[in-house]
Parts: sequence; C-alpha cells; structure tokens
Amino acid sequence: MDIRDDSGYGFILHGAVAYSENKSSLKTFDDAYVICVNGICEGVYEQIPEEFSNLPVEDYWDKLIIPGFTDLHVHAPQYQIRGTGMDLTLMDWLSQNIYPEEMRYKGKRYAERAYDLFVEDLYVGPTTRAVVFATKHVGATMLLMDMLEETGLVSYVGKVNMDRNVPSSYVETTDGSIRATEKWLAEVKSRGYENTYPILTPRFTPSCSRELMDALGEMAEKYHLPVQSHLSEGLEEIEFVKQLEPDAAYYGQTYERSGLIKKDRKTVMAHCVWSGMKEIAQIKENGVFIAHCPDSNMNLMSGAAPASRYLDEGIRVGLGSDVAGGSNTSMFRAMRDAVTVSKLRWRIFDRSVRPLRFPEAFYMATKGGGEFFGKVGSFERGYEFDAVVIDDSQIATMHKLDAALRTERLAYLADDRHVVGKYVRGRKIY
Ligand code: GUN
Ligand code: FE
Repeated sequence: MDIRDDSGYGFILHGAVAYSENKSSLKTFDDAYVICVNGICEGVYEQIPEEFSNLPVEDYWDKLIIPGFTDLHVHAPQYQIRGTGMDLTLMDWLSQNIYPEEMRYKGKRYAERAYDLFVEDLYVGPTTRAVVFATKHVGATMLLMDMLEETGLVSYVGKVNMDRNVPSSYVETTDGSIRATEKWLAEVKSRGYENTYPILTPRFTPSCSRELMDALGEMAEKYHLPVQSHLSEGLEEIEFVKQLEPDAAYYGQTYERSGLIKKDRKTVMAHCVWSGMKEIAQIKENGVFIAHCPDSNMNLMSGAAPASRYLDEGIRVGLGSDVAGGSNTSMFRAMRDAVTVSKLRWRIFDRSVRPLRFPEAFYMATKGGGEFFGKVGSFERGYEFDAVVIDDSQIATMHKLDAALRTERLAYLADDRHVVGKYVRGRKIY
C-alpha cells in the first residue's frame, strides 16, 4: 500500500492516549504525545524527544486520542433500512428486505442521495477504514467509491457478484457478472484513487455458482485483488449450502476450491458463527480475516460467534457493523456488543469459550481489523497514522478516571457527537 509522500511533514498530538499493542492489554497514557512524520506514527512519548522538538504540537489537553476504528464488514446500500424489519432470520430477511432495497441502486438519483447519507455517517464517526459491500451495479458502485475517496477515509469497496437464488430482477447472468466486474475494475483503475481500493465480492455461496466463483478466483490471481464474502452465518444458510454443493466437505471449501481462500490471498469472511473444526483450521492456515459482527448476529438470530476462541487460536479477527444486519455503523457499539454477546454465549450456551474482555474488543476494532489494510490501527512506531480525538467530558461522572477506564467507557457511552478530531494517514480530515 503506498503512502502519500508528504516529505518533511510532521506534527504531534497531545492528550490522553490509548491503543493496543497486543490483543489482550491496552496501552494507556494520561498525558502523552503521539508523533506523526510523513503519515507514519513515530510512537507515543511522555516527553517530546529532542529529534521531534521542532514539530508543531496540536494540543488536545485532556481529550482522549485513540487509533481510528476499522469497520471490517458493512453494506453501504443497506444503510437506508437499518434498524427496520429485524424480525426475520437471514435468508427471509435477504429476500424480503435486502434484495428489494439493493435493487433501487440501479437508479442514479437514489444511489447518489442514499450513498451521500451513508458516507456522511462514516465521515463524522470514529471509523477511519472500512471494507464495504456495494450492490451489483457498476454505476452506483463507482459513485460510492468517488464519494468515499472524497472524504479522505480509506476503504475497500466491492461490486457484488451473484448469479443464482436471487430474484430475477436483481440476479446477474454468470457471464454478465464477470463482464461487469471487468468493466468495474477498469473504471476503478482509470480513476487513480489514492484511498479507495477494489475488493472482489462474491456475495456468498448460495448466490454464486461454481463457475462464477472460479472466474472471480482467476481475477483475484490475475489482478492481485483481495476478496470479501460471508461464511457460516446462519444454520438455514449452511443447510442450503450443503444441498447446493454436496461435494464440499464444509462451507469454507466452496471458496477455497475456487482460489478465493488461499495462502497468499487477502480474504475477509464475515461472521463464522457456526464454523466447525475443519473450517476453523482452514481459516487459520490461510490467514483469512474474520469480521465478527455481533449486532447483526443477534438481530438476524444467527447466533454468537466464538470470538475469544478465534483470538486464542491466533486467527485474525476484526469487528464489522454489518449494517443493515447490524442496525448501527457505530464501532463503539460493535465493541460493546462483542463483549455483551460473548458473556451471554458463555453463560447460556457454552462454557468452553470464555467471555471477551474489553481490551480484546478494542483490539479487534482497531489493530485486529486494521491489519487488513497493513500496519494500521495502533500507535506503535511504523503504523500508518490514523487517529481519532474524543471529547468525553460530557459523559458525566464525579470520579476522576484514568485513560484505561475512559477508553472502556467509550464502548458503552460514546457516540459520534464525542468525536472532535480525525486524522487518516497523517492527514487531518477534521
Ligand atoms: N449473506 C449474504 N448477503 C448478506 C447480507 O447482505 N447481509 C448479511 N448479514 N449476510 C448476508
Ligand atoms: Fe454482511
């Protein structure tokens, strides 16, 4: 990933600071300096080191500075219907609510107005990076990419592919889907974006034939593209995959046999709520990222993914809002939901998978998901400089809280109103 060449450009942020170095503990400072040179973090210091003493200091006093969040899985075209129609399980919800809504993006006017609202939401909140599903439409997907590029946020965006088990007015033919994807990739290339990247997006096995998956696997190889999809989200979905693909020993194989899960392929799979031992081993061996989407998993009655188990196995895990399966784009909420769901899962259902602790949720929301973009999501030296400044002074308490407690509180009490500054790749976007 290329970093913008802002040679000689550097600055220092001063405030309380929190970030993850590893998945189990939070590194915090009540009063410290975060240093950025040429878009890259030079580390966090209690005193400004001599070599950086001539850099300008932006003083945030007692505000809290944290790395930006990565939303590792979100559907931009579902934003307009978030928080509605949540009484259905996955497959019925897709056909009754989601496909009819996504079809609307055929129209340029609808797409323009709808994506504007989505992009504005992402811009003002604490998210600095996102991995995004669009729709099948090339025109609307380009519109979304243009808008995201404009914000200064960094994103992967995918034109969705689907050639079966989708209503006739929204489905693609296999050939049509492949050709549209080639056309979309050519358009993306011609735009020369700095911060917006394409990602191949077979929706999920129920809606993608083997032939289409094979073609996408070839494209991933030919153009060195990453891949995003859904895996083992709901029980009815998994049963359907068994019927559709009886030759596959487990769901994850339907991606692997087309080269969409592969050792040096960068792939993110949303959910993995019901992955079995073999699938977990496959995910681990191939370095697949799991986008854990706890709010969506509750809303669609999918279940609760064993997130702590994935972390303990050394699997790469980030958090996804999965709007509109999840009803909110807030990564503050995603952290809380991850912790809460893991506690219920442990208490009600499975004592073998321990509940998550807050530092693990924070890790997943920052460094865990950020890794999909490279060295992103931490203030360690060498990381791309994404920072969010939070004014939590309005979240009243009589106690004097240290930076660790202030950070934990964000998951439960903070929202976009508390975000007062945002930096992406060393550039201040507000
Ligand atoms: N599986 C296939 N498509 C979707 C989608 O749009 N949302 C969710 N949550 N799961 C899916
Ligand atoms: Fe999803």
